[in-house]
Amino acid sequence: DHGLHAPEFPWSHSGFFSAYDHASIRRGHQVYSQVCAACHSMEQLHYRDLVGVAYTEEEVKEMAAETEVEDGPNEEGEQFERPGRLSDPLPRPYPNEEAARYANGGAYPPDLSLITKARHNGQNYVFSLLTGYREPPAGVTVREGLYYNPYFPGGAIAMPQMLADGGTEYEDEEIPATMSSRPRWIVTFLSWAAEPEHDDRKLMGVKWLFILTLVLATAVYYKRWKWAPIK
Ligand code: HEM
Repeated sequence: DHGLHAPEFPWSHSGFFSAYDHASIRRGHQVYSQVCAACHSMEQLHYRDLVGVAYTEEEVKEMAAETEVEDGPNEEGEQFERPGRLSDPLPRPYPNEEAARYANGGAYPPDLSLITKARHNGQNYVFSLLTGYREPPAGVTVREGLYYNPYFPGGAIAMPQMLADGGTEYEDEEIPATMSSRPRWIVTFLSWAAEPEHDDRKLMGVKWLFILTLVLATAVYYKRWKWAPIK
């Protein structure tokens, strides 16, 4: 059973030559940390990945140092806790899938590192899912512990509605955290996380186009010059 197909939204990074809006990546990371990280891991992402993208190195070091990471064994063969570092992955909320399911009534909150790639129409799907909670239509009943959401395959999801107006606070108070701005930031953050090389890739494309245009122009000029006396 497929969910309702999500419409196409005009992502500002989707253009042929467009880079990510890095302020949105930063706000999206804050939404992730304050809301989603309570249930979803992003294990492919390391603190160092955020440096120069969403924060300065100092900011990220501080952020990592606020977490406790289990490490070891030390010389005595023991496990120990230490403050997080740039090389650590973002912390996961549960030690394993069983614990995650136990805490979520049997449902599994998937790792979000690659979610915009792993789902069909990923960015639009996640945006629609987050903003798609509503009353079930007449005649449809949803089991206790599930919530009606037409974009989720099957129509009933174990994740309650997140990001209703209010609730979280941002350092950047000038931008209102509305019903659609936060889903937009979190999706921008998730898309970036799934393809951190995106901006470099497009910039490289622009450079290649530039160089190849020069090469082509030179070749055309040279050919004409060489052949001029013969024609
Ligand atoms: C599922 C994103 C917060 C619990 C999902 C899915 C997405 C998602 C995209 C669907 C994955 C799929 O298609 O299979 C987010 C985002 C969050 C957030 C962006 C923050 C804004 C939370 C929180 C909880 C939670 C805080 C726990 C209270 C779950 C569970 C599922 C789920 C249990 C599985 C649902 C099912 O299989 O029925 N989440 N989530 N999520 N999420 Fe979240």
